[in-house]
Amino acid sequence: SSDFFVDKYLQDQHWVITAGPTREAIDPVRYISNHSSGKMGYAIAHAALRAGAQVTLISGPVNIPAPAGCELIQVTSAEQMHQQALTYVPKATTFVACAAVADYRVANIADEKIKKDNERMQISLIKNHDIVADVANLANKPFIVGFAAETQNVEHYARGKLMRKNLDLIAANDVAKAGQGFNSDDNALTLYSAIDKIEIPLANKQIVAKQLVSLINQHYLAKNT
Ligand code: CTP
Ligand code: CA
Repeated sequence: SSDFFVDKYLQDQHWVITAGPTREAIDPVRYISNHSSGKMGYAIAHAALRAGAQVTLISGPVNIPAPAGCELIQVTSAEQMHQQALTYVPKATTFVACAAVADYRVANIADEKIKKDNERMQISLIKNHDIVADVANLANKPFIVGFAAETQNVEHYARGKLMRKNLDLIAANDVAKAGQGFNSDDNALTLYSAIDKIEIPLANKQIVAKQLVSLINQHYLAKNT
């Protein structure tokens, strides 16, 4: 196969990756979600597989096929993604939180379709569990990579999340810039560790993912050897 010439530098590693959006039900026919396409997370899964890793992809609802050879765990809501992440992470050497997780869920999901009986209506929301922060609180935690999609003060917010959530790396992207980030085929990332700052220039998400996977492995090896 074409994989014959690919360096299997991740062959002893197991990556667990979250990807895509989550959906938070309002009633049986409606939900709250976001514009995440899942392309970045799926591209990372593909690149890690090509490099020889075992990959578990925990995905919200997306319209793209899972890369051949990965273990695909399909979820809908943030709380389902949280539960599956904590189930699969104990096997992982590396956890990549690429999903655009809904920050809040609906407090009281209606059993029946809500009727438009009123001029105004309100939906009460409750904060969801923070998946990547809870993984980082485990005693036997893997190497942890978060993402930060920001529209302003990108470095300040990204470094804040890196420290607060106790991550090893965070990949920040400026979603206010045209042609990158949510639902785009291209992306540009800045990867931060506590001491490093590395730019991955704007390119197709497959190319960005290949560079990111290699950089994650370099930092993983620096920490674990
Ligand atoms: N994340 C997560 N679980 C959540 C929310 C976020 O695992 N409930 C992860 C995302 O997958 C990403 C990182 O946390 O890797 C940062 O997500 P982001 O939405 O940028 O940050 P938040 O902490 O949710 O803060 P805010 O949305 O207020 O910027
Ligand atoms: Ca958020």
